[in-house]
Amino acid sequence: MDHKFRAGIVGCGNIFPMHAYPISKNDNVDLVAVCDIKQERADAKAKELSAKAYYDYQEMIEKENLDVIHICLPHYLHPIVAEYAFSKGLHVMTEKPMSIYLRDAKAMIEAAEKSGRTLGVIFQNRYNNSTQLIYKALRDGRLGKVKSVRMTLAWCRSDEYYSKSDWKGTWDKEGGGVIIDQAIHTLDLMRYMIGEEIEFVDCSISNRAHEIIEVEDAAEGVIKFQNGIFGAFHCINYFTYDAPVELEFDCEKGRAKLTADKSVIYYHNGDSEEAHPTGDYFHYGNVKSYWGVCHQVQINQFYDALKKGEQPEITCYDALKTQQMVCAMYESGKLHKRVYLK
Ligand SMILES: NC(=O)c1ccc[n+]([C@@H]2O[C@H](COP(=O)([O-])OP(=O)(O)OC[C@H]3O[C@@H](n4cnc5c(N)ncnc54)[C@H](O)[C@@H]3O)[C@@H](O)[C@H]2O)c1
Repeated sequence: MDHKFRAGIVGCGNIFPMHAYPISKNDNVDLVAVCDIKQERADAKAKELSAKAYYDYQEMIEKENLDVIHICLPHYLHPIVAEYAFSKGLHVMTEKPMSIYLRDAKAMIEAAEKSGRTLGVIFQNRYNNSTQLIYKALRDGRLGKVKSVRMTLAWCRSDEYYSKSDWKGTWDKEGGGVIIDQAIHTLDLMRYMIGEEIEFVDCSISNRAHEIIEVEDAAEGVIKFQNGIFGAFHCINYFTYDAPVELEFDCEKGRAKLTADKSVIYYHNGDSEEAHPTGDYFHYGNVKSYWGVCHQVQINQFYDALKKGEQPEITCYDALKTQQMVCAMYESGKLHKRVYLK
């Protein structure tokens, strides 16, 4: 019989089901253990999934002979847990962002290389139909060259939402606000779809509407790609609901607009194409009701790649570029200057 990967998940909070369910549906993997410092959370999830509960991730790694650990923790813990897991010979699938600081994301990659293990980073929205329609039209030349791109994000993260968390809204544990936590997905899509290195970012950040958080709830600016394209962005998380994110490409042969799970391309020759959500991916309660249900696709692809001994489609090297972009946006916003990427 084929080897089944033994997987554990650390962090039994909001995003936990989006990892637990795909693992439980994947024939190549057994979810053997779950871990949370909040014991009642670990106990409840362990019972639900017939896994073992742990309250200390090092103990889980030591006792369970895991092949893979999924990291669903506050941002500042991603590099700490990943590096420990690599030192014990595990593969790692971490939630976005890789880390708060660029140097930590680089250290995660070095630890993966040193151990010969794989680092996966969740950017599940790359697998949405809406993303793929435009991505392919850009790659195969149907849209011609991109002239410019813009994105808008207006979501709702109220003071009440922040008051329930002991890490969100803080610089040391979340590492920022609307950029690093919410807009990172759409910013990653912009970078992935343009497929070019970045020359500079020029960004303003501010807290305009929240009383109880340290971090920014608004960000505006531009990403200049090395091929000359300007990518404009406007992101807030003080809107009253999670409006569909928008990403629009103005291209030589047409215009393509992604509106969350839907996208439409109008070609200048009169043709058009559309993409809609398939609707059959798992999302749990309202965890991901507004956007981003493709964890299952990315997690399955990650395990397929592990089985073949290959890098996953979304490599840690590519995820690092998004981390670098986000870190440069913070540097630009905090220091009020344009930041060139090396
Ligand atoms: N991909 C997406 O669409 C998406 C959506 C939401 C959250 N996320 C990401 O998932 C991660 C977790 O976010 P969340 O909203 O689930 O947070 P959360 O606060 O709901 O859950 C985090 C859990 O980690 C536990 N924890 C904290 N320190 C621990 C430790 N040392 N050992 C074990 N457990 C510990 C907490 O008790 C909590 O249960 C973040 O990186 C976030 O950005 C991704």
